[in-house]
Amino acid sequence: MQTSPGSNPWTPDELRRLVAWYAAMGVDAPLEEEPVDRLAARTAAAPPRAPGPATTPGADAVPATARRAPVAVPAAEAESLARTTAAAASTLDELRAALAAFEGCNLRLTATNLVFADGTPGSRVMFVGEAPGRDEDLQGLPFVGRAGQLLDRMLKAIGLARSDVYIANIVPWRPPGNRTPTPQETASCRPFMIRQIQLANPDFLVCLGGVSMRELFGTDGILRQRGKWRDYDTGTRTIRAMAMLHPAYLLRQPLHKRLAWRDLVALKAALDGAP
Ligand code: URA
Repeated sequence: MQTSPGSNPWTPDELRRLVAWYAAMGVDAPLEEEPVDRLAARTAAAPPRAPGPATTPGADAVPATARRAPVAVPAAEAESLARTTAAAASTLDELRAALAAFEGCNLRLTATNLVFADGTPGSRVMFVGEAPGRDEDLQGLPFVGRAGQLLDRMLKAIGLARSDVYIANIVPWRPPGNRTPTPQETASCRPFMIRQIQLANPDFLVCLGGVSMRELFGTDGILRQRGKWRDYDTGTRTIRAMAMLHPAYLLRQPLHKRLAWRDLVALKAALDGAP
């Protein structure tokens, strides 16, 4: 193909394949070449509003640049704001609304949707994963991608459906490129998760993977700790809790599915009343 200086040397087909390769590698969020001073952009993009009621749908809409501008909430302040905000919610619906309005975690700025929960609140079992991935971010529901489909099959293997359990994540927004959430991100979301467990009020809590286990049980070493029942104090009562291997890990290490099977059998036995 002839190209003039400065024109694109790639053919449309090459570009399509390049984009597909980026997507396969998890690069699905375009970033700009130059850093943007978003605090300045935010101030400039928010002129004083004219007085009067905003009755037209969308009249109150905040410009996209302002909506997506990060709010520089210091870590300690974000955590304490999260604690008071989460504690003030007296139902799961209120908690979801509080989380949707919470500005103390910048993951919300790159995410498409808040991923709060799926399944049935009040179920006897609650599963807590790490963070939404791409499919979850697009659908606004936890565990709907490949790992989620495996989780569905794992549940089915012990006679449970998604609607028989309640499912959430430690952080409710997708970290860009599916990276592990940072300690600051998990710390600012943790009070919401603690309150979500309290309000969902399950009899059994199952952490899926090491990040969830660290945040909720304060321990590391998922391969050693998985499958052990422990007490978990929800703040209103003590329930039984266990960590299992994360389904995404099981997709990469299928031989370890036998460990997950043991843990599922233990969960089923506990649900059936075994001591
Ligand atoms: N992995 C998680 O930890 N949570 C999801 O919702 C999906 C994948």
